[in-house]
Amino acid sequence: MARYLITSAIPYINGIKHLGNLIGSQLPADLYARYLRQRDHEVMFICATDEHGTPAELAAANANKPVDKFCAEMHKIQKDISVGFYLSFDYFGRSSSPQNHKLTQHFAGMLDKAGLIDEVTEKQIYSKIDQRYLPDRYIEGTCPNCKYENARGDQCEQCTKQLNPTDLLNPRSAISGSTDLEIRETKHLYLKQKSLKNKLDDWISGKENWPILTTSIAKKWLHDGDGLQDRGITRDLKWGVPVRKGKDIWPGMENKVFYVWFDAPIEYIAATNEWSDSKNLPDHHWQRWWRTDMGAEDVQYVQFMGKDNVPFHTLSFPATIIGSGEPWKLVDYIKSFNYLTYDGGQFSTSQNRGVFMDQALEILPADYWRWWLLSHAPENSDSEFTWINFQAGVNKDLADVLGNLVSRVTKFCKSKFGEVVPEGGSYGADEEKLISDLQTRLSNYEMLMEKIEIRKSAAELRALWVLGNEYLQIVAPWVVFKESPDKAAVQIRLSLNLIRIYAIISAPFIPDASNKILESLHTDDRSWPTNLRVSLSTLNAGHIFTVPEVLFAKISDESRKEWEKKFGGVID
Ligand code: 2FM
Ligand code: ZN
Repeated sequence: MARYLITSAIPYINGIKHLGNLIGSQLPADLYARYLRQRDHEVMFICATDEHGTPAELAAANANKPVDKFCAEMHKIQKDISVGFYLSFDYFGRSSSPQNHKLTQHFAGMLDKAGLIDEVTEKQIYSKIDQRYLPDRYIEGTCPNCKYENARGDQCEQCTKQLNPTDLLNPRSAISGSTDLEIRETKHLYLKQKSLKNKLDDWISGKENWPILTTSIAKKWLHDGDGLQDRGITRDLKWGVPVRKGKDIWPGMENKVFYVWFDAPIEYIAATNEWSDSKNLPDHHWQRWWRTDMGAEDVQYVQFMGKDNVPFHTLSFPATIIGSGEPWKLVDYIKSFNYLTYDGGQFSTSQNRGVFMDQALEILPADYWRWWLLSHAPENSDSEFTWINFQAGVNKDLADVLGNLVSRVTKFCKSKFGEVVPEGGSYGADEEKLISDLQTRLSNYEMLMEKIEIRKSAAELRALWVLGNEYLQIVAPWVVFKESPDKAAVQIRLSLNLIRIYAIISAPFIPDASNKILESLHTDDRSWPTNLRVSLSTLNAGHIFTVPEVLFAKISDESRKEWEKKFGGVID
């Protein structure tokens, strides 16, 4: 048994996330957390809402609400949706929490003590029309690196380059669209990342087992062009963590807050503190996950995120941790993802294009989405959501293979032996072959899940389901029963037990269906089938079950066409 700390990139508070966001971090993180728990590891799975910075302020202004009220409401909405998707966070925190304020100020203080903070007078863009500075997302324009025309002042979404607002070509205000902008001088705190370059380089060089997507992005920003830059960690905004030195406002930093990308990753730690506070547990309960002087040296820390988040997690956040000089836990493995595209284009909130998490749950159960998204996770390249693929995946894998097996076995048993596991004799050659094939595939599945190879794990799971169907097809108990009911009983008893095993090993992907299967089998025994042969005789003769309702209804062509139209991108 080991200890795993798992964090998913914390979603911005500004709106409900789409399916691309879901498969880019929270869902794969949940898959991994669920699997590890089932294998008896101790898991702390953390997520939160990212509540500061320009995304929050802009969205609150659009909604005509005070930003604190907007954030509290949106946090609840995002939390409820995560429950709807069966995301098994141990805690879903808020980056605006007092715990995060305190920790963020603490880190800045430690970095300052280590001589890693500079006070820099810098040029900021000021909008006369808006009567304010325009940091980060308040400014839009053309990316100097790739020429993408809708780059934002903090980062270009297209090429992932971290930017400063003054880097943008043809800048315009995101609030008013005004181009009547001027450059004004104002003082900000800078984190001297350049002086940490060698340490970061050494650290990343040791991560040979990381996905290439992760290390290639990290190395690119460490070495390409001007390489790693010192970075402003404060902003001219009202909403955020006030910039303090000890108990007092940092001189010259009145009316400023920390940059959202400075406090957001610190929230991983703070949310763990929120978790222990919510349970009235003393601090060492969260510290044993995060402080290597408090027991975290044996923790395996795994982060999940989309590729646009990688520079912040491979460079900026580690710079904060390493620079603090304190024994905080650094990430051990970063699983990053490409993008999920929608029908050949991008998901777009403004154009109402694509499926958002709340809409997804309105039309179909969570497991349908979980299965399709995970089995098409954009691991090695971008992957595309199309309705026809989605329909085919759900109908074939879930309805025809798994659902059909469960239904055939339980219904046949009911009609011939009643809703009870029949008496059985010994196995023949077909059963021995099935067990041996299952064992090979199950070991492979376990190895792939441990390596977080998500698509391959899904393929192996599907292949495990197929083995059960093939077995049933070959032995054909409905034929055997006529001549030899005892032999059919062996086959059905084995199949009922196999269904229980499928429910257990499929739970990380489809937790709701898994629960339904186990309920219908009237069993709470969820132990992992480490010994397949023993596991296949868990449900004994006489054990009662109930034929379940249809587990997965097929998606009709009619529904598919309707949804294609509905989510296809008509502007409201
Ligand atoms: O890209 C995003 O949605 C960011 N809110 C992710 C932040 S992850 C972390 F650093 F907290
Ligand atoms: Zn770019």
